[in-house]
Amino acid sequence: MSLASTPAHIRIDKLTFDYGGERPAVDTLSFDIAKGEFIGLLGPSGCGKSTTLRMVAGLLAPTSGQIIMGGEDIVSRPPWERNLGLVFQSYALFPHMTVAQNVAFGLRLRKVGKEESAARVAEALRAVRLEGFGNRRPAELSGGQQQRVAIARAIVIEPEILLLDEPLSNLDARLRDEMRFEIRDIQSRTGITTLFVTHDQQEALTMCDRIAVMNGGKLEQIGTPVEIYDKPATPFVAGFIGRANSVPATLSLGTGGPRLDHEGQALPAPDLQELPADAGDGAKLAAMVRPHAIQLSRPDGDGLTARVNRSVFVGSVIEVELELAGGQKLVAELRPGSEEAQLAQPGADVALTWRTTDMRIFAA
Ligand SMILES: Nc1ncnc2c1ncn2[C@@H]1O[C@H](COP(=O)(O)OP(=O)(O)OP(=O)(O)O)[C@@H](O)[C@H]1O
Ligand SMILES: [Mg+2]
Repeated sequence: MSLASTPAHIRIDKLTFDYGGERPAVDTLSFDIAKGEFIGLLGPSGCGKSTTLRMVAGLLAPTSGQIIMGGEDIVSRPPWERNLGLVFQSYALFPHMTVAQNVAFGLRLRKVGKEESAARVAEALRAVRLEGFGNRRPAELSGGQQQRVAIARAIVIEPEILLLDEPLSNLDARLRDEMRFEIRDIQSRTGITTLFVTHDQQEALTMCDRIAVMNGGKLEQIGTPVEIYDKPATPFVAGFIGRANSVPATLSLGTGGPRLDHEGQALPAPDLQELPADAGDGAKLAAMVRPHAIQLSRPDGDGLTARVNRSVFVGSVIEVELELAGGQKLVAELRPGSEEAQLAQPGADVALTWRTTDMRIFAA
């Protein structure tokens, strides 16, 4: 469900941070986060995710721009006046304190009474499914359990906003998978508005209500996982989320409708609405198609002529490397045992098609 239409809980408005490098680390970033929403900040290393999070947390003062909460710009408020829970990649638990003492830490700072504190710590440990672990020390816990203590410590203060910076990257693959669901489950139960930083597209796709894709300090696109995957707004998003083939193509606008050609061969007919607004006759474009959307047929059929270079069984799919007449390579994913898979013998000639709705078209 998209929460995009409900009023913003946090509005990030032209947020910019300049460390003094060649260009700002975060550059006029703007987007809204709805109350209770789980937003992922996704992008390659160095794109400005942590810098953004640190500005929201109040650990860095923006060079310019605003962070609006409850109708008020909060950039000049210190972190402790922002009512936030923070979880970082390293859990940073106090080793000499018990689990319960670690979780109670923020309550002690806030001078919460002993009885109330004990009740809230028990509640937070219940939320992360660590009841009965209160008397252990961090060293007596697994990595996943330690990360859950860090989350309990962040949510026990009943923050308005939960900020998570790569909280799963120190865990092994299996634990990471489990913790994805745990974190999402805790967030759904508590309803805390959450900003989650990750460079892992799988994590972002599986956990988030919406994903904000960043590149070079700028926002490339914000949308639901399905929107980001199916309707990437830019070539960068298309290439960063999932695998994508990009076929250079020339546009011709004849009477028979728009047509895309690659090396003199027609691609599946493009949808006029999908063409870049300024693309005229003869424009050089790039057609993007996902590997699973490519259909193979016999070489005498409709479509682009290609040769099969390689065909590799990788479990749930067969990955096929194809080469077009001009040397352009594509990857297709076929269902093992399918008729198409039979055609994908190395050295064989085939015809490639895909549905118009499976093709995105960008300026080259
Ligand atoms: N303290 C600093 N001083 C100078 N430049 C910095 C500092 N911290 C980060 N940067 C630069 O700012 C840019 C954004 O860094 P940031 O840590 O926000 O990236 P990130 O998206 O969180 O990356 P990662 O996925 O590697 O954690 C990078 O180019 C980085 O080199
Ligand atoms: Mg980072």
